[in-house]
Amino acid sequence: MKILQGIDLVKVARMEQAIRRSGKNFLDRIFSPEEQAYCGSKRMRFEHYAVRFAAKEAVLKALRARPKKGQKLSGIEVKRLATGKPYIELSAEARRRFRIPAKAQVELSLAHEREYAIATVVVVIP
Ligand SMILES: CC(C)(COP(=O)(O)OP(=O)(O)OC[C@H]1O[C@@H](n2cnc3c(N)ncnc32)[C@H](O)[C@@H]1OP(=O)(O)O)[C@@H](O)C(=O)NCCC(=O)NCCS
Repeated sequence: MKILQGIDLVKVARMEQAIRRSGKNFLDRIFSPEEQAYCGSKRMRFEHYAVRFAAKEAVLKALRARPKKGQKLSGIEVKRLATGKPYIELSAEARRRFRIPAKAQVELSLAHEREYAIATVVVVIP
């Protein structure tokens, strides 16, 4: 069994700048429609976007995968249980592109406040 860990910290203001500058194309490349709907419904929407971006980076960090500049990340998706607890869902395309083993289990934890958002990921490969 392998246990891999990843962490990423994102400055909320930088996420806000990227979204304001690059608009819908950037959003669609990085965030799924469901993620956009969730973040867009929140008062502090850039915090929620920033923490999801951190989650995607933390998954890639745990797996030692480095995305190419401009690569699509919307297939690494943050979803939520009814309790609000977040989890990662990986599309078949993302699994292929980032060479993520089919049996990998991904555990996720998120936190954010006005300035920073942080995500930690543990990947268990049986
Ligand atoms: C859910 C909880 C952990 C969120 O903590 P918070 O300090 O308000 O906010 P944080 O910035 O640390 O974390 C926010 C993220 O926690 C995650 N979260 C929400 N509910 C969660 C849950 N039940 N379990 C794990 N993570 C959860 C979400 O991903 C959320 O971000 P998102 O809305 O962008 O998806 C917290 O409110 C909580 O319920 N704690 C349990 C103890 C408690 O009830 N305390 C309140 C009385 S003192």
